[in-house]
Amino acid sequence: MKLFTVGPVACRPEVLQDMGIQMFSHRSKEYQRIHREAVERLQRFLETKGQVFLFPSSGSGVMEGTVRNCVEKKMLCCVTGEFGKRYAEVGVSNGKEVEKLETEIGNPVTPEELDEKLSSAKDIEAVAITYNETSVGILNPLPELAKVVKDHGKLLFVDAVSAMGGVEIKVDDWGIDVCFSSSQKCFGVPPGLAMASISSEALEMSSRAKNKGWYFDFKLYEKYQQGEWSTHMPPPVPQIAALNKELEIVEREGGKQKRLELYQKRAKRIREGVEDLGLKLYPKPGYESPTVACVNAPAGMKGLDVYERMRKEGFELAKGYGVLKERTFRIGNMGYITIEGIDEMLQTLGKVVRK
Ligand SMILES: Cc1ncc(COP(=O)(O)O)c(C=O)c1O
Repeated sequence: MKLFTVGPVACRPEVLQDMGIQMFSHRSKEYQRIHREAVERLQRFLETKGQVFLFPSSGSGVMEGTVRNCVEKKMLCCVTGEFGKRYAEVGVSNGKEVEKLETEIGNPVTPEELDEKLSSAKDIEAVAITYNETSVGILNPLPELAKVVKDHGKLLFVDAVSAMGGVEIKVDDWGIDVCFSSSQKCFGVPPGLAMASISSEALEMSSRAKNKGWYFDFKLYEKYQQGEWSTHMPPPVPQIAALNKELEIVEREGGKQKRLELYQKRAKRIREGVEDLGLKLYPKPGYESPTVACVNAPAGMKGLDVYERMRKEGFELAKGYGVLKERTFRIGNMGYITIEGIDEMLQTLGKVVRK
């Protein structure tokens, strides 16, 4: 099956090969080396001098971690789709008061709306933004939104699960306090690992937090990383080795900008190919995600029909998600995908929608 999924995604053979190493203790020198290399490479990729930690969970684990470590009473969740809703649910289920800034489906959050909301609710401590809303295929205007959050002096959490590795992120320049993702998305590594940058302000909040639990305690991640380039429990060593390899490949192939250009090139090919077939993308024009195309199903077909028929032809796309389940299907642009593979997929999609 050829994968155009939104995670888990196809991984490079070279990366999968590095996961087959014999295990060693997470207290050994062998482990410390790959942990340190992966962290330092991520720091360069995310353009941060702050801390970057590796978590033995998927991205949702860090989402919960932000709420438990860095919010005392109240947070704001920007909701542009299902994953923004999840953030709000995670907040509420951890006993926090959650305000929502919800947009009409298919539309991004605008800096003006966010400014208005923060001006009217002064007791908000932190703002959560989904950079790339995977369910709808929208890229929110993060640099502008981040500026508003910082002008109001709030902590900023960025769910970059389907953005990190495929879309520009400048953690320090944009003032992001926690920016997290998971291995099974743009970095093209199997699931089981999350990674996040954590600012000194976020760590300061964590040191004062009550009832933050143990497993996702950011201060414990800091302690074990500073002390011995490790974690306070056995981490997913194969995934960390794989991430380190993928980041090494990024550097070998010309660095971060080259990788982001590749994502742009693939996204353009997918978008133009879809439009050439007479299909329309769901999101508001100008905010289409470069890592997932959310496409309106053609007349007379449901999104699920397109998905099933493509599967029969050997291509796994992604189903529509949440309220868009019936009306859309999605084409992932994450992980190990070639331009030739995209052309082949588009040709098959043409056959499927014309039938
Ligand atoms: C934008 C976004 N946020 C959060 C998540 C949840 O991440 P994970 O599945 O790694 O827990 C996903 C998963 O698809 C996502 O796309």
